[in-house]
Amino acid sequence: MSVLRPDFLWGGATAANQFEGAWDEDGKGPSVPDMCTNGTHTSPKWITRTIHPDRLYPSHEAIDFYHRYEEDIALFAEMGFKCFRMSINWTRIFPTGMEDKPNEDGLAFYDRVFDCCLKYGIQPLVTLSHYELPYALVEKYNGWEGRGVIGFFENYCRTVFDRYRDKVKYWLTFNEINSATMPMGAVLNTGTVKGFEGPLSDVPDNRQERYQALHHMFVASAKVVAYAHEHYPQFRIGCMTLMATTYPLTCDPDDMILAQKQMQNMCWYTSDVQVRGEYPFYAKRFMEENGIGIRMEDGDLGILKEGKVDFFTFSYYMTLCVTTHKTDDKAGGNLLGGVANPHLKASDWGWQIDPKGLRWTLNEIYARYGIPLMVVENGLGARDVLEKDGSIHDTYRIDYLRSHIEQMIEAVKDGVDLMGYTPWGCIDLVSASTGEMAKRYGFIYVEKYDDGSGSLDRRRKDSFFWYRKVIASNGEDLS
Ligand code: BG6
Repeated sequence: MSVLRPDFLWGGATAANQFEGAWDEDGKGPSVPDMCTNGTHTSPKWITRTIHPDRLYPSHEAIDFYHRYEEDIALFAEMGFKCFRMSINWTRIFPTGMEDKPNEDGLAFYDRVFDCCLKYGIQPLVTLSHYELPYALVEKYNGWEGRGVIGFFENYCRTVFDRYRDKVKYWLTFNEINSATMPMGAVLNTGTVKGFEGPLSDVPDNRQERYQALHHMFVASAKVVAYAHEHYPQFRIGCMTLMATTYPLTCDPDDMILAQKQMQNMCWYTSDVQVRGEYPFYAKRFMEENGIGIRMEDGDLGILKEGKVDFFTFSYYMTLCVTTHKTDDKAGGNLLGGVANPHLKASDWGWQIDPKGLRWTLNEIYARYGIPLMVVENGLGARDVLEKDGSIHDTYRIDYLRSHIEQMIEAVKDGVDLMGYTPWGCIDLVSASTGEMAKRYGFIYVEKYDDGSGSLDRRRKDSFFWYRKVIASNGEDLS
């Protein structure tokens, strides 16, 4: 008998800007990623203020889910998906973010996508904002630093809640909201890059702006959670955290404190607000020591209290170490780096692979909050080889996923309440950090390459058949 719930939400995860394409079709406006060029592991992508015709913008075509959603969802159904994590691209519904009336063509597209999922018994899990801020809000308001963006977000969320009330039950407000505590979050998340054009590595870091923006995102998230609870009690709304689980490199008490502080300031800071409805006790000292002063309006703290989320979701790819001792051994990561862990191996992109860290992390989160958890991103970004006969033998990906699912099951045996698992990029898509196609996560291979070429044909990888077996056995058959 499987230890997982009988209704465990097995599935896969995506984000609109990384796979839809059709960036300017049917009335869609540009979002921040539409202004980002391609890059690589070693050369950063750029954000540009206008579209440069001689440069490649990977989100513009991406993998063309916009026109191929029926084929793609049929493949997800073939794997037995119970759940499909996707995001709504805000600029398909409100092209600049500031309109009063929504774009009907954009709304109709997501109706078609949800209907198609439901036809196969697949529950959509919808991220309202997955690194897809309307670019017009960057230029007008410096992104989320502008308080006015809260109202625009509310208008957008109410519109999609009201429209899809009978089609979508599970929602997440912001993807990896805590990335705003990291310099790279200024582009992807808070959009506090008004007037900037250049490589992402050169974006001037302004912590004050990022934390002010984050406060507005907290208020916005709480307001839409409260709205949903009041109008649609059948909805379940979660937060989404980038779990950059951090270990002390040594047992030196200074390393212990450094790791604890990093976890507080980078991971728990946002979820403490979203789950508990108030700023955490350690925030005051952090703000004072870093010269951050958050402007709040009367009533903001009350709003946070009224908009607590129902479940906790997170992305988990790797863990990091920190130390107060001198070392040159660096480790990479999504948006944040650290010191290499001598007990772990890293992916080709330098992300350290740590399945047992997932068990540890699930236990930590559940101990802290005691609400249902869901792993909504996990996976191995790797180079795949398309054989002449069209097969893709991705045993390394199967190994990675198997070892993480094993540890997830251990955590459930520990007593953690786990709702589901949606590995990242269930179909190959554009990398968020580098804009590459070469960094593939999918069970489904897409013939699309870094120079923008490719037939866009879909092929089943070996992991596709493996995952189908895993889902059919509710996690019992991992062989
Ligand atoms: C998470 C994001 O940070 O990691 C996704 O929510 C992203 O959007 C994923 O794609 C994997 O990162 P990358 O850079 O390999 O695409």
